Amino acid sequence: MSRTPISALGCATCGAVHPLDGPRQSCASCGGLLEVVHDLGRIALLRPPAAWRDLFDARKGARGDDPHRSGVWRYHELVLPDLPVADIVTMPEGNTNLYRVAALETLAGSRDVRVKHEGENPTLSFKDRGMTAGVSFARHLGVPLVACASTGDTSAAMAAYAARVPGMRGLVVLPRGRVSVEQLSQPIASGCLTVTLPADFDTCLRLLREVCARRPVYLLNSVNPLRIEGQKAIAFEIVQDLGWTPPDWIVVPVGNAGNIAAIGKGLLELEALGIIDRVPRLLGVQAEAAAPLARAFREGYRERVRVVAGETVATAIRIGDPVSYERAVKVVRATGGRFESVGEQEILDAKASVDAAGVYVCPNSATAAAGFLKARAAGVIAASDSVVIVATAHGCKFSQTTIGYHTGRLAGIEPRRANRIVEVDADAAAIERLIGTD
Ligand code: F0G
Repeated sequence: MSRTPISALGCATCGAVHPLDGPRQSCASCGGLLEVVHDLGRIALLRPPAAWRDLFDARKGARGDDPHRSGVWRYHELVLPDLPVADIVTMPEGNTNLYRVAALETLAGSRDVRVKHEGENPTLSFKDRGMTAGVSFARHLGVPLVACASTGDTSAAMAAYAARVPGMRGLVVLPRGRVSVEQLSQPIASGCLTVTLPADFDTCLRLLREVCARRPVYLLNSVNPLRIEGQKAIAFEIVQDLGWTPPDWIVVPVGNAGNIAAIGKGLLELEALGIIDRVPRLLGVQAEAAAPLARAFREGYRERVRVVAGETVATAIRIGDPVSYERAVKVVRATGGRFESVGEQEILDAKASVDAAGVYVCPNSATAAAGFLKARAAGVIAASDSVVIVATAHGCKFSQTTIGYHTGRLAGIEPRRANRIVEVDADAAAIERLIGTD
């Protein structure tokens, strides 16, 4: 790190400030969650807003081993300015497509609806953005063992990034039987110590935090403030993709609430630096079976809501007690945003609509799409509002859910938009008959 660091760790609870120079996970004064605070005044002095935009646009042409090719490290000075380039572990992540989805525009009667497909990242989810930051910092510190509890995507990302660092080992703790088979395969493939427990995600995380308090294990769940810094680059890419004109709304599926907190933090920093002139409103969407933040919003945020998460096809956001609850409420309120929840049928129908546009997303992403449709139908989002929905993981991670829907085998779900598999004899004429005559 440089001699006069630009970034430090601030406690959201008591306001104490600690140096960003070690594997600190919580506030030494009160035990609260920490966040990376950048000296935005110093960053602003480096370049005027238009020059920052030009620099980030120019880096889109980076080639070869240049870490600026990454959709996270393109914004190095706003992510972890003090981290030496030599410590960066990148695959390179980001640079995901922003697709216009006409089917959603038609269904909603909306003018401009796009999907940012984070499933196009190296391990097929947005988690790669947080992990490139978290694992790079772990490498900078020389940490030998990194760990996370996960609903399936954080573990896949951490395992892959740790595997890129010689001498770094990974440990993942998963709720047994509650991650998809594709997600389970990922840390195993990356050579990570893969542990499953007969417990839900909230319990896995609680137990792992106990282990980390006793042993020198570097926790890479989103309680780790470094993760948030990488993840906020989703917001940077969205506004850059749109020529630095922010959309009216950004819609995000919410589980542990780190991602929506990161996106909000990133947008507020861009506004403070003058790189954008207004901040989009955030809509956080949860599955009804695990919707503490949606309930808190309905109740006017009277008190912190915790629930025991029930069954949902959106297994990656099956979380009843989100770690980044306070952070998420803070940024959603700051943007004039809200939280919403949607049911299983809505999630699966929305998934079928987005998938059928050739943009194959996971059920968690579809939760956001369904939340958008609901908010639009209620008039919360106007027809003229421009909307970006963040699809957080690829549909290929949840193939059984996709096939279950299209074959009508999901209990309690009407396969309304099913594209059924057609089984015919091994006979060319049988295939021809399916094509029709004209
Ligand atoms: N979408 C997907 C595909 C996810 O994997 C997650 C979180 C989220 C949305 C929600 O993001 O937690 O930041 O609000 N997955 C974590 C995991 C919990 O362990 O992979 P969040």
